[in-house]
Amino acid sequence: MYPSCGFDASPARVFPNVTFVDAEKGNEGCVQLLQEAGLKAIKTDIREYHPAEEHDLLILLNPAIPAEWATCHLSTGGYIIANDYHGSASQLAQKPDQFLLFGSIDLVNMPGQNKDGKAIISRNIEGLFEQVSSPEEFRRLRPDAFEFKAGLINSMAERGIIDASPSD
Ligand SMILES: C[S@@+](CC[C@H](N)C(=O)[O-])C[C@H]1O[C@@H](n2cnc3c(N)ncnc32)[C@H](O)[C@@H]1O
Repeated sequence: MYPSCGFDASPARVFPNVTFVDAEKGNEGCVQLLQEAGLKAIKTDIREYHPAEEHDLLILLNPAIPAEWATCHLSTGGYIIANDYHGSASQLAQKPDQFLLFGSIDLVNMPGQNKDGKAIISRNIEGLFEQVSSPEEFRRLRPDAFEFKAGLINSMAERGIIDASPSD
């Protein structure tokens, strides 16, 4: 299942039975276009999605939703392919009792960068999800990432997707 798929049909190139789900918040028309391409696509808010069976694979690529809105539909032993642009991978990494970090897919060789576009798959996740003790430490270590995440959190809080008030 690919929640928040937008117009991205790419998983259908490699997986035989993908369910695409999108609420069309900013990507109007995407569900119909996927359907016209012969794909199984459902227009709904993921919070209103109630599949008959759990899914064995989730794709969380820039989903603009908290990961748990989708992971509640994952079967035990299932897989998740997640990126971290919207913090999905980090959210999963914070739940080691539920999710095992398996490896990384490194897309450094992206098309358009005069490279060959090959993905590098590795079991090495060392250094990828190191905890920081405070926002100040995060800002000091990775100022650009801090600014991006802060903007994202504020935007999601404004839309009521997350509660960004400081915890004790
Ligand atoms: C930034 S786009 C990402 C699209 C695609 N995954 C990509 O990377 O190109 C985020 C998508 O999430 C969808 N979306 C946002 N909130 C949603 C929700 N609650 N339920 C389902 N889809 C949602 C929007 O309609 C939009 O298509």
